[in-house]
Amino acid sequence: MNRTAITGMSFHVPDKIVTNTDLEEMMNTSDEWIRTRSGIEKRHWVENDEGGSDLSLVASKKAMEQAGVTGKDIDMVIVGTASSDYYFPGIGAQLQDMLSLNTIGAFDIRVGCSAFIYGLAIADNFIKTGQCKTILLVGVDVLSPALEKSPDGRDVGVLFGDGAGAVILQPGQNGEGILSTHLHSEGKYVKELWCELPSFRLEGRGFSNDMIEKGRHKLIMNGREVFKHAVTRFPEVIQEALDANDLTMDDISQVIPHQANHRITEAVAKRLGVARDLVYSNIHRYGNTTAATIPIAMCEAFEEGKFKQGDHIILAAFGSGFTWASAAIKW
Ligand code: UT7
Repeated sequence: MNRTAITGMSFHVPDKIVTNTDLEEMMNTSDEWIRTRSGIEKRHWVENDEGGSDLSLVASKKAMEQAGVTGKDIDMVIVGTASSDYYFPGIGAQLQDMLSLNTIGAFDIRVGCSAFIYGLAIADNFIKTGQCKTILLVGVDVLSPALEKSPDGRDVGVLFGDGAGAVILQPGQNGEGILSTHLHSEGKYVKELWCELPSFRLEGRGFSNDMIEKGRHKLIMNGREVFKHAVTRFPEVIQEALDANDLTMDDISQVIPHQANHRITEAVAKRLGVARDLVYSNIHRYGNTTAATIPIAMCEAFEEGKFKQGDHIILAAFGSGFTWASAAIKW
């Protein structure tokens, strides 16, 4: 059985760059605090009515071009996002239209920062069973509009950026491709990292002015709790990927983790007992772009020569739910 290979990948971020200095007055923060606590130097935020579908479209077209496929070849669209243009339907259906694709299956998955790897696992199974031959998978998030852009929201507001990363998945021809995926969740922590509204179980049935006044439509995170779990779950799920494939860290050219905080990335490298630069980081350029961090990081790590054809890499994510996941790939 052929493995599922990534045959094209690209990313796109909004033009507008927001530096730490830009946030100092708005959020009563400092460049120094943001750099030392998170590693972030700048992030990109959408402007005007720019949405996740717009970012996804640009990234998808570039990934398709790189893979040498046209819209006619694509037989499924999967989008990982927590911030679709509309509450429903998701960006998947919009991309089907924007890319003039056939009336194929197109859908979104909502597991926050783990969404790209969850999407990879779904796509892998559709390709391995022969049900699909060419899948477009996008990780995209535009969470800047859900940030509290005042001193009250500074603990979360300085961390997030907007962006999209897209890959084309097809059967690999020479043994390259996804070796394994592992998905996890622990729903008792739902409220440690969440956006409550719009909700269809609450008194307002969606939104009410009172709910908005109370800021219940903003992204809320218990940073310390998330941090504590992340530094345990990342090494655990990476080890799971190694064990499933009889690999050790010596066989791995690059670990590409979700970019949440450079201190988390450093802790992961330490717990794995590997050199710091074996675990990729580009959070200084983009902040935390949620479902987009892994495909963006994968594109940049490849361009920087961190891995090449025939190498093994591991992707790993941790995010809201809590959810966490890993994928081992032979490039
Ligand atoms: O992608 C989803 C996964 N997300 C993550 O993995 C994020 C995980 N968590 C984190 O990365 C970190 O917990 C944060 C970066 C969110 C926070 O770092 P921290 O070292 O845990 O800081 P803290 O929350 O313990 O706050 C330390 C201090 C507090 O002041 P006091 O109480 O010590 O006087 C905060 O009020 O820093 C203060 N603070 C700020 N100061 C300046 C919090 N945010 C800011 C800020 N600027 N933006």
